[in-house]
Amino acid sequence: MTDKELTELEEETLLDSALRGMRHAKVLWGFRVGAAVLADDDKIYEGCNVESEVAGLGVCAERSAIDHAVIHGNRKIRAVGVVADHPSIESLTPCGACRQYIKEFADGDIWVVMAMAKSGSVQKNTKLRRRISELLPYPYRTNAFSSQMTLHSVAEP
Ligand code: THU
Repeated sequence: MTDKELTELEEETLLDSALRGMRHAKVLWGFRVGAAVLADDDKIYEGCNVESEVAGLGVCAERSAIDHAVIHGNRKIRAVGVVADHPSIESLTPCGACRQYIKEFADGDIWVVMAMAKSGSVQKNTKLRRRISELLPYPYRTNAFSSQMTLHSVAEP
């Protein structure tokens, strides 16, 4: 998939899976979010937001879905679906941290498909599709893993 097209059916399947993920959301103060990623083993992994009583300790649905794929041995994702039980379009697009995380696991310039979820179903007329490069044109990259650093750590006793 990567830079290739995502079919209507694949898109629908991703959003339905995100909706299934959303049912598990643990919400204390925010709203419910579900995500699903299509991984390089061709399977779909769901995620949901999990909020904590400690500010900043919870996790977003997108990162939860990616971690779900990683724990099943996948470090490359080919598309992302996100649904949120919230009426504003801004609340559908991944937060900055999730954009960075998606980019780090993306197999090319993948599609991120978003839609609102209401009364237990995906609202198809709210569907939005963006390339990860549109959502995050200048991703952060560290040079912490450069050969220089590797040599440095190798030289340590
Ligand atoms: N949230 C996500 O799950 N994904 C995002 O990309 C943005 C926000 C969650 C965090 C919090 O639990 C709730 O939505 C409200 O911000």
